[in-house]
Amino acid sequence: MDIVRNIADLRHAVANLRISGERVALVPTMGALHAGHIALVDAARSKGCQVVVSIFVNPTQFGPNEDLDAYPRREAADVALLEAAGAALLWAPDVAAMYPNGFATTVSVDGVSGRWDGAARPGHFAGVATVVTKLFQQVKPDIALFGEKDYQQLAVIRRFTADLDIDIEIVGVPTQRDDDGLALSSRNAYLTPEERVAARALPRALGEAKAAIERGDEVRAALDAAVARLREAGFEPIDYIALVDAATLEPIERLEGAARLLAAAKLGRTRLIDNLAVG
Ligand code: PAF
Repeated sequence: MDIVRNIADLRHAVANLRISGERVALVPTMGALHAGHIALVDAARSKGCQVVVSIFVNPTQFGPNEDLDAYPRREAADVALLEAAGAALLWAPDVAAMYPNGFATTVSVDGVSGRWDGAARPGHFAGVATVVTKLFQQVKPDIALFGEKDYQQLAVIRRFTADLDIDIEIVGVPTQRDDDGLALSSRNAYLTPEERVAARALPRALGEAKAAIERGDEVRAALDAAVARLREAGFEPIDYIALVDAATLEPIERLEGAARLLAAAKLGRTRLIDNLAVG
């Protein structure tokens, strides 16, 4: 696997990949890779693509009191995982290569960005949309793959890709989970051993709420029970637990069509998010 760190080398390397005639897939990441990221690489390879992975801890999507400095960085281990998974190219720019002096453009997405993580983390989705737009322009892939664990992020990316007529197929890949149900996330590394045990309450609370809503219980009662379960496990604050329309992410009170349960809450210093399809 080649590693490139500037745009000229990236363009040259992607042009070489295209000589094979295979499609090019992009898997954008912030590194600290786990089986969830490798599932994205596997999904791209199973579609017969040459896979470009980007690793860039994007400062513009972190708020002032968030974990930008603490975010795990372990490129050597990531490279080993990507080589074993059969990725063709790693694009690993530094901040100056991504945001050169004078950089002044932001991609901001109304509607789907507004609620949930958009409200809890002001500016986050504009940072994501801006860097993903840049990654799309830099790599010019045929397809790009994102985990469904960041469900709202995926909706934001689908929205601006359609709105800006970007000719890239966006593929969502199901969330990968540990044996006890916790969604894989680079941020799980922040949890203490005790918190890691308590964290199981998040997928369990969502699973119970999903089952209750699907058997016809009141949505409000199911959500209140999930909040109580999380509080009991030590989550505080609970930013949101909501049943939303799967496409618009607007809250819904009754199950009609495709819906999603979304949750975000803090356990100690670690903010965890998760979601499940409902109906
Ligand atoms: O999901 C992530 O890791 C990041 O938000 C992304 C899409 C790589 C943009 O920085």
